[in-house]
Amino acid sequence: MKIAKSVNRLGTEAVYNIFAKTKKLIKQGKEIIDLSLGQSDFKSPKHAVDAAVKALNDGYHGYTLPNGIIECREAVSRKIKSLYNANIDPERIIIMPGGKPTMHYAISFFGEPNSEIIYPDPGFPIYQSMINFTGAKAIPYNMTENKDFSIDPDKILTLINEKTRLLILNNPHNPTGGFTEKKVIDKLVNGLKKFPDLAILSDEVYDRLIFDNKKIPTLLNYPELYDRLIILNGWSKTYAMTGWRLGWSVWPEKLIEHVFKFCVNNHSCVNTPAQYGAIAALEGPEDHLDDMMKEFDVRRKLIVSGLRKLKGIECTIPGGSFFVFPNVSNTGMNGEEFTKKCLNEAGVAMIPGTAFGKFAVNNVRLNFATSRENISKAIEKIDKILK
Ligand SMILES: Cc1ncc(COP(=O)(O)O)c(C=O)c1O
Repeated sequence: MKIAKSVNRLGTEAVYNIFAKTKKLIKQGKEIIDLSLGQSDFKSPKHAVDAAVKALNDGYHGYTLPNGIIECREAVSRKIKSLYNANIDPERIIIMPGGKPTMHYAISFFGEPNSEIIYPDPGFPIYQSMINFTGAKAIPYNMTENKDFSIDPDKILTLINEKTRLLILNNPHNPTGGFTEKKVIDKLVNGLKKFPDLAILSDEVYDRLIFDNKKIPTLLNYPELYDRLIILNGWSKTYAMTGWRLGWSVWPEKLIEHVFKFCVNNHSCVNTPAQYGAIAALEGPEDHLDDMMKEFDVRRKLIVSGLRKLKGIECTIPGGSFFVFPNVSNTGMNGEEFTKKCLNEAGVAMIPGTAFGKFAVNNVRLNFATSRENISKAIEKIDKILK
């Protein structure tokens, strides 16, 4: 049996290895506080659950069109209008089984040998994995250079050359929790005018998880980019619906027929009752999101102040998402050594920065979408092993 070389170029998400190791330790009777996974501990909104159950009971369980039911695409279009005052034709919206397929398809559209794709490092690991899979050259930009983990538009612009096909942006940013402000995005977009053939994938999956009353400078607010802009978003993070596998994406008109074919070739359509739940989530009350963000803000401050009290740890307060990305180098350990020690000796699971690329050797990612009690306990346990 001989498998294609491209398959060996696929990467993975280390979070799943740590998840498996954590589960094994728990099975052995160890008490583990798991701060590794990238999801909220909140429940999906009840009105979304009810709508999906009703859809099933009403017989909506067959195939739908590959780009999603029109009612769902219209609901996304209305939500974009109400949140960002941008007019997006539902025909340019594709409902996806999660945020990831948008990444997969967008990178596949532009990546091939002798082309280059620029992506954030540290960054969501699937960017680099998919770029390598296509045979394109993966060109990272370092997200650890600014203290607040915001992007540096000048540095990104210097990486673009005639081989560059796609630029990947992610704001707010996983794993750092960094948030890039509008004036910086303005500067980047202005610089991109010089490269009209370059496509942009803007991963905005954490767009509603931003603190301090700030709003995302969504790329949807730059209509001059619409003929080369792909937006990745979805229900996973905003509505605590990770396991539903629901995402939405916006594409340039000329790519729609290709995306449609990718959907047909891959997943046929998104789970039908889930799409009805998705509409209810978008159109229902948002108390759930408000409550979640109020609680995340408390937890964010709790974990940052706790980490800052620990010997040898520096921690920036995240502007968005539910991650902190402290630097642990002054403990005398790098991120990987620190992660191992925390799991084995303190019973706290987290992810080393190197799971997200090559630059964040001295960082670790902790998820604070867990109870205040878990956060406080985790800090106490780590404190003990650092003394
Ligand atoms: C930056 C980023 N993009 C995309 C995704 C994928 O989201 P989904 O679970 O909806 O596929 C994630 C998930 O963690 C993420 O952190």
